[in-house]
Amino acid sequence: MDGKGEDKPLKLYFIPYLAPGHMIPLCAMATLFASKGHHVTIITTPFNAKTLQKSIPSSQSKQHLHLHTVPFPSQEVSLPDGIENLSATTNLDNLVKVYQATTLLRPPIENFVLQNPPDCIVADFLFPWVDELANNLKIPRFAFNGFSLFAICAIESVKKHSLYSSTSFSIPDLPHTITMNASPPKQMSEMLQPLLDTELKSNGLIVNNFVELDGEEYIEHYEKTTGHKAWHLGPASLIRRSIEEKVESGQESAVSVHECLSWLNSKRVNSVVYICFGSLCHFPDKQLYEIACGIEASGHEFIWVVPEKKGKEDESEEEKEKWLPKGFQFQNQEKGLIIRGWAPQVLILSHPAVGAFLTHCGWNSTVEAVSFGIPMITWPVHGEQFYNEKLITQVRGIGVEVGAAEWTAVGFGEREKIVSRDSIQKAVERLMDGGDEAENIRRLAREFGDKAKLAVQEGGSSHKNLTTLIDDLKRLRDCKLS
Ligand SMILES: *[C@@H]1O[C@H](CO)[C@@H](O)[C@H](O)[C@H]1NC(C)=O
Ligand SMILES: *[C@@H]1O[C@H](CO)[C@@H](O)[C@H](O)[C@H]1NC(C)=O
Ligand SMILES: *[C@@H]1O[C@H](CO)[C@@H](O)[C@H](O)[C@H]1NC(C)=O
Repeated sequence: MDGKGEDKPLKLYFIPYLAPGHMIPLCAMATLFASKGHHVTIITTPFNAKTLQKSIPSSQSKQHLHLHTVPFPSQEVSLPDGIENLSATTNLDNLVKVYQATTLLRPPIENFVLQNPPDCIVADFLFPWVDELANNLKIPRFAFNGFSLFAICAIESVKKHSLYSSTSFSIPDLPHTITMNASPPKQMSEMLQPLLDTELKSNGLIVNNFVELDGEEYIEHYEKTTGHKAWHLGPASLIRRSIEEKVESGQESAVSVHECLSWLNSKRVNSVVYICFGSLCHFPDKQLYEIACGIEASGHEFIWVVPEKKGKEDESEEEKEKWLPKGFQFQNQEKGLIIRGWAPQVLILSHPAVGAFLTHCGWNSTVEAVSFGIPMITWPVHGEQFYNEKLITQVRGIGVEVGAAEWTAVGFGEREKIVSRDSIQKAVERLMDGGDEAENIRRLAREFGDKAKLAVQEGGSSHKNLTTLIDDLKRLRDCKLS
């Protein structure tokens, strides 16, 4: 080596999982590397590539950022064309098929990578085989799982102490005392654990968060208990800036952006509750009914995102009434905007009229809300969302809990415990009716929003983590070459 290697751009491959909550943030992080002049290729399937193409910023990063597609095995798993990611599914059957299909992506992706080896692979932890592939090529690999580091610390501690039987319990050994309202379903732990174990064999974890929100104490805890390193490069949502980019990111939205903006523009600052449970949660009708009653009783204005199939023109009157109280939409025409399908979430959260976010605590949504300084009303459903809730409420004090206590394995299907309209009304009022507690939560949320914005700027914590990661990768590459 003549010492010039350092200036040569890195060649990096990113392999995102086929769920928007994983794909969109990981691709946003990929653009970070491209904007520094490194050669980035995102490997995905054709339909997802079409969406991602739109979210790649049109700036200089474009010339360094490429999409490589491998075919989606629709026929092999008997899925109709066009269903290539988890948010395109609305039932368990198709969800399982998409999951199966992703396991079939290994051979075509491996072929491509082996024929054109990069300097480093960043892959979702749901593709554990990337570990073997990277080892064969003797290149570093980094893992991404879309979780906060706080949640990973909680998961590891729950595993260590086998806390799966009780309904309500405290997590031992963490820097804070964390009391859980529900315990994780066994299936989830059984599925996650081998994946997390493989993840620990990688060179490090890429986290869509910033150091200040997870907290130095949890970073230390993680390094101490696992011996593994975590790099905080987020929040991914702040990587895109202008209004056009905010809209284009993610999928086609179901409401015109103009309609949404002009509605919000007519509202007072902090007066609107934004309600959205992400792309993978589908509540039964009687739960939707309670939400409608609860929000109406609170008297506050709202934007409510409901799954696409709800309230379509061709739905019979009877079907409609099952989940919306009679005359609800008519009576609430001024007060509420119901969006069916995908909403321009970043645009909504960044609007000053929005005063609270009733959320399922999916990490992608959570970190977006934090970025814009919006306090949350937490309603976790599945996955690691119950841990995220605790980071928001007990640890950082930027939200209130609605009182969800049923932790399911997936986001849809029947549920035993319905969150009542009273609980919903109370939680909304606790945050929206003013008072000392609410003001305090609002102030803290704003402060974390400011910290998030600083983190991604030159000299901020995420920016520094990115710089040291790139330096480390160059060192790893150059000592391999020499
Ligand atoms: C997920 O699939 C749906 C249906 O094909 C598509 O409309 C959407 O753009 C895809 N999402 C992403 C993030 O690629
Ligand atoms: C996060 O997900 C939301 C909706 O689930 C989507 O609107 C948004 O574009 C995603 N953002 C990022 C940064 O992943
Ligand atoms: C990321 O930044 C934080 C704060 O600046 C620092 O404590 C941490 O060690 C960095 N992480 C890595 C892996 O270098």
